[in-house]
Amino acid sequence: MKHVFIAGNWKSNKTVDEAMEWMDSIRITTSAQVILFAPFTLLYPLKQRIASLRLPIELGAQDVSPFGDGAYTGEVNARQIKELCRWVLIGHSERRHHFVESDELLEKKVQQAKASGLSVIYCVPDDTTAVPSGVDVVAYEPVWAIGTGKSDTPENARQVIATIKTKLATNTVIYGGSVTPETSALFVAQDAIDGVLVGGASLDAQKFSTLIGHAASVTL
Ligand code: PGA
Repeated sequence: MKHVFIAGNWKSNKTVDEAMEWMDSIRITTSAQVILFAPFTLLYPLKQRIASLRLPIELGAQDVSPFGDGAYTGEVNARQIKELCRWVLIGHSERRHHFVESDELLEKKVQQAKASGLSVIYCVPDDTTAVPSGVDVVAYEPVWAIGTGKSDTPENARQVIATIKTKLATNTVIYGGSVTPETSALFVAQDAIDGVLVGGASLDAQKFSTLIGHAASVTL
C-alpha cells in the first residue's frame, strides 16, 4: 500500500486559542503521515496538545535560521526547533518571493537543519530548480497555483514530479498548490505523487480532516 504524506501549512495564521480549537476538532483515522507546519509561537503549545490528545500528527516549523546559536536577532535556529518538532519547511515560494531567499541561502538552511537532525521538506516551483543534498521530501509547488484556487492538473503534476524523481536521490515528492478535499485523492492517485502540501484548506480542521480521509483512501 502506498505511503501517503499529507502536510498542512498554516503560514502566518492562528493564535494559541485558535490552534487549540483546531486540535480539538481534527479527526484522523487513516495511516497517512500527517505533518503540520505551524508558526513558531504555536509549536510548544501544539506539541503539548498533540501529546495529551495522542494525535497522529507530526509538527514542523515553516522556516529555520541559516545560522546556529549566536547574535542573530530575530532568528530561530535548527537546534531550538529540534526541541519542539521533527520537520522544517524550506524554500517555500513565499519565502523566496517576499523575503528574497536565494538558492544559496536556502542551501545553508538545509545544512543547518540536517546538522541538527531535522527532516526537511524542500519546495520547488518546477523541475529545473536546484535541490540541496540531504532533503528528505521535495514539494513541487507551481507559484501560480498557490492560494489561487487554480491547481495544476494531477496528470501534469505527475509528469513534473516524475522528472524531479529521475534527477534526484530523494524518492519522495509531493504536490502543493490549491489542493482541496475534492482534489486531494486525484493527486495521490497518480503513481509518482507521494502526497500533498496544503495551505488554505489546512486552516479549517473539518475541511482538513476530510481532505486527509479522501487522500488516504487511495490504495495503489
Ligand atoms: P494553498 O497553499 O493550498 O493555499 O494553495 C499551498 C502552499 O503554499 O503550500
